[in-house]
Amino acid sequence: MVCELGDDSAWPAFLEARSVLAQGTREFVFVRRGAQWSCLPTGTADLRPAQQVFALSHAPVSALAADAALTVFDPADAMVPTFVHPTRRPVDASFLAMARVYLPVLLGAAAARRRGRTFVAAHVTQTLDGRIACPNGQSQWIGNAADLRHAHRMRALLDGVLVGAGTVRTDDPRLDVRHVTGPNPRRIVLSGSGAILRERHDRHAFRGAGCDVVVAAGNGAPAPGRSHVLEVPATADALDPVAVLAALRSRDVHSIYLEGGSQTLSSFLQARCIDLLQVHIAAMVLGAGIPSFTLTPVEHVRHGLQFTMDHTMLDGHVLLSCWPSVGEAG
Ligand SMILES: NC(=O)c1ccc[n+]([C@@H]2O[C@H](COP(=O)([O-])OP(=O)(O)OC[C@H]3O[C@@H](n4cnc5c(N)ncnc54)[C@H](OP(=O)(O)O)[C@@H]3O)[C@@H](O)[C@H]2O)c1
Repeated sequence: MVCELGDDSAWPAFLEARSVLAQGTREFVFVRRGAQWSCLPTGTADLRPAQQVFALSHAPVSALAADAALTVFDPADAMVPTFVHPTRRPVDASFLAMARVYLPVLLGAAAARRRGRTFVAAHVTQTLDGRIACPNGQSQWIGNAADLRHAHRMRALLDGVLVGAGTVRTDDPRLDVRHVTGPNPRRIVLSGSGAILRERHDRHAFRGAGCDVVVAAGNGAPAPGRSHVLEVPATADALDPVAVLAALRSRDVHSIYLEGGSQTLSSFLQARCIDLLQVHIAAMVLGAGIPSFTLTPVEHVRHGLQFTMDHTMLDGHVLLSCWPSVGEAG
C-alpha cells in the first residue's frame, strides 16, 4: 500500500487526540462518521453509528456496528506501528497514513511529559545526495508543499519548534502553523555565543510573544521584542543538548520539533537527544552543499547510529520516520 500524507480531512482528529492526551487520558479511539473523523476517550465514545474505528486496544469490538471497520494499534508493540484489522472491512487508507506518522509522535510526547523528559522529533529535508542547502546556504525549497504542510502539522502537535541561529540568519523562518489549523508552538532559537541577540531584532522568530533564545551562560543580552533569553551552563559556548532540554522544561516545553540546520541537528544527534528523525528525501541532486549532519567519525560501520525505519509518501517525495535504536539522553 502506498501511504500518502496529502489528505487533510482527518487532521482535526489528531488535534483532538493531543487534547485528550493532555487531560491524562491514555485510552482513546478515533471514530469516522460520514466523512468526519473525531477522537474521544474510549469509555465516552458511541461507536454504533461509526463506519470506521481506530482503537489503541481491542476493547471497543463488542460496541461496533456490524458493518464497521476496526483497526487496532497496540502502542506497546514498537515505534513503527503495526495495524491489525480484526473486522476485515475496507479501511480508510488516508487516515492510516496519518496515524502511522502522527500517532507515535503524540504518544511519545505524552509519555515524555509523564516521565519528566522531553520528546525530540527532528526533521530534515535533503536531496538524494544528502544536502540540505547549496554551498552559499540557499535552501528554499528543496522540499515541496506537502512537506511544508507536514512540518506545520508537526509544529501543531508539539510544544516547541527549535532552530539554530544560522537558520534564522539565512531563512528568517516564521516558525508558526499557518498552513494547517492548530496551536502555534513556542519558537526556540539556539545561539551559544548569543550573537543573534546583538544582531537585527526584526527577524520573524522574534516577533510577538512566545520566543525563547537559548545562549551559553554569560552570553545573554537584552532580548529582542518580547522574546525570553535562557542562559544555560556551557563550555566555550558549546551548549549540551541535554542541558538545553532541561532548561526548556523549566519553560513547560516537553516536546520539540527540531528543524535544523545542520550544526544544530548534528549536535542533538551526537548527544543522542533525538527520539525520532524525520528525513524528507527530495528527488534532486545538488552535488555540493551543506550536509544533513556531520558527526564525529567512526572507524567501522557497526559504530554508526542505527535506526528502525518506516516510510510515507509526500506528493512524490519520500518521508522516512527513523527511530534510533538507542536514545533517551534528554
Ligand atoms: N533543508 C532543510 O531541512 C533545512 C532546514 C533548516 C535549515 N536549512 C539550511 O541550513 C543552513 C543553516 O545550517 P547551519 O548548520 O549553518 O546552522 P544552524 O544549525 O541553523 O545554526 C548554527 C548556529 O546555531 C547555534 N548552535 C547550534 N547548535 C549549538 C550548540 N550545540 N551549542 C551552541 N550553539 C549552537 C550556533 O549559534 P551562534 O553561532 O550564534 O553561537 C551555531 O552557529 C541554512 O543554509 C538553511 O537554509 C535547511
